[in-house]
Amino acid sequence: MVVRRPRPAADEVHSPAVTAFEFQIRPAIFEDAAGIAAAHVASIRSLGPAAYAPEVVADWGAPRSGRRYLRAMANGERFFVAVDGQGRVLGFAGHRVEAREHRIAVYVRGDASRRGVGSALLAAAEAVARQGGAAGIRVDASLVAVPFYAANGFRALAPAVHTLRSGRPMACVKMEKSFVAAAQLP
Ligand SMILES: CC(C)(COP(=O)(O)OP(=O)(O)OC[C@H]1O[C@@H](n2cnc3c(N)ncnc32)[C@H](O)[C@@H]1OP(=O)(O)O)[C@@H](O)C(=O)NCCC(=O)NCCS
Repeated sequence: MVVRRPRPAADEVHSPAVTAFEFQIRPAIFEDAAGIAAAHVASIRSLGPAAYAPEVVADWGAPRSGRRYLRAMANGERFFVAVDGQGRVLGFAGHRVEAREHRIAVYVRGDASRRGVGSALLAAAEAVARQGGAAGIRVDASLVAVPFYAANGFRALAPAVHTLRSGRPMACVKMEKSFVAAAQLP
């Protein structure tokens, strides 16, 4: 899927001209692991400081290789990547089933944010959950991402604390998107 979205030109203030911002969403392959790792770190380091202290961003966005994504793929997590015309990974989404819950996560590089990339990635991951018969999906949303998930139909359930690999706590919000229409509920 190729998505084109108007992107404001650098000189937009003086000219109404726009240039297209194009990206493609596709299922990730093993060869994407390093690109996913780089996009993950870049996303956290560029967008995380809006809501978190520097020490949290440093631990959350600690350098990493592609190995953890390869492991996750091998364990059944489905990844989608958004790539630009040069094949650079702009962002990714992951879908996994954990304790019978369909869970997702979405990360987009700061220089590609607010262009619809995250929403397109989320839609791809959401489709996997729907195909898998999920009644809904859950996410432990970072404080940065709460408005994004809310704009995509999630509701906040409760504040929570995620423990980073370093052991440092990180505030987040448990959110849920239900696929079941209210009228269908018992
Ligand atoms: C959350 C994230 C994935 C959103 O990606 P994105 O590509 O910027 O999202 P979109 O462009 O599809 O945004 C869709 C809508 O969500 C809302 N939204 C997204 N980011 C927002 C922000 N920082 N503040 C307020 N609303 C926001 C807006 O309504 C936006 O529509 P608009 O741009 O037309 O106003 C991205 O900000 C990110 O990677 N954040 C850092 C990592 C992170 O916390 N990931 C979530 C882990 S649980």
